[in-house]
Amino acid sequence: MRKRIIAGNWKMNKTMEDGLALASKVTNMAVDEVSSDVTMVMCTPAIHLSPVASITKDVTNVSVGAQNMSEHESGAYTGDLAADMIVSTGASFVIIGHSERREYHFETNQQLADRVKLAVTKGLTPLFCCGESLDTREANDHVNYVNTQLKESLFDLSAEDMKKVVIAYEPIWAIGTGVTASSDQAQEMHLSIRNSLAGQFGQEVANEISILYGGSMKPSNAQELLAQPDVDGGLIGGASLKARDFVDIAKSY
Ligand code: PGA
Repeated sequence: MRKRIIAGNWKMNKTMEDGLALASKVTNMAVDEVSSDVTMVMCTPAIHLSPVASITKDVTNVSVGAQNMSEHESGAYTGDLAADMIVSTGASFVIIGHSERREYHFETNQQLADRVKLAVTKGLTPLFCCGESLDTREANDHVNYVNTQLKESLFDLSAEDMKKVVIAYEPIWAIGTGVTASSDQAQEMHLSIRNSLAGQFGQEVANEISILYGGSMKPSNAQELLAQPDVDGGLIGGASLKARDFVDIAKSY
C-alpha cells in the first residue's frame, strides 16, 4: 500500500517564533485529529528544521522536511544545504526541484537527478516536484513535458531507490494562484506519471510510489482531489501556513 502524505511547503515564510508556534499547533492537532495512516510533513526553511524536528520527534505520523538540497556532499558552496546537514537536524524529507527553484535558481533536470540520488543514499525521502507551465498545457504538451522531467531526473535510479522517492505533480499555473487543477486534470496526469514509472520500473514499483498533487490545494477542494485513485496526497503551500487549514486537508481522506 502506498503512503498517504500531506506535506506543507512553508516556502520563505515565518520567523523563528512564528514557525515554532505553527509547528506546535500542527503537531498537537495532528495527534488529536489526524488518522495515523496519513503522514504529515512540514517542509520548513532551513533555520526551523532542527527545532521543529524536536517538536515532532515523538509523533510518528508528523515529519519534517527541507525545501532544497545541494547535489554536493560538502565544501565551498556558500548558502547551500548539504544532505548530511539536513539529516543531522532530524528531518527526513527534502523537496527537490520545486518549480520556484527551477525558475529562479535555474535548476536543471540533471542537477535534480544528482540531488535525488544523493538524498536517497543519505536516507532522506525526496519529494520530487514536476509540472508544466500554462503555455505548455495550452499547447497540449503537458504529458510529454512532465515525462521528460521524470525521465531526465529519475530514470537512472534503480527500482529499489525509485520506491523511496515521492513525486509531487504541481502544475505551475495552479501554484499560489487560487486556480486548482480539476480532479479530472489531476487524475489524468497522475495516471500518466504512474504509467510512465511502470514503463521504466515495472507496474509493481509504480503502484508503490506516492504521487502528491500540489497547486492551491485547500480544505474546500482537498476531498475531491484526494478521492482520485492516483492522487496519494498533497503538497500544500499557502494553506500549510494555517494550522487549522493544513490539518483539515489531512483530515479530508
Ligand atoms: P500553493 O503552493 O498551495 O500555495 O499553491 C503549492 C506549492 O508550491 O508547493
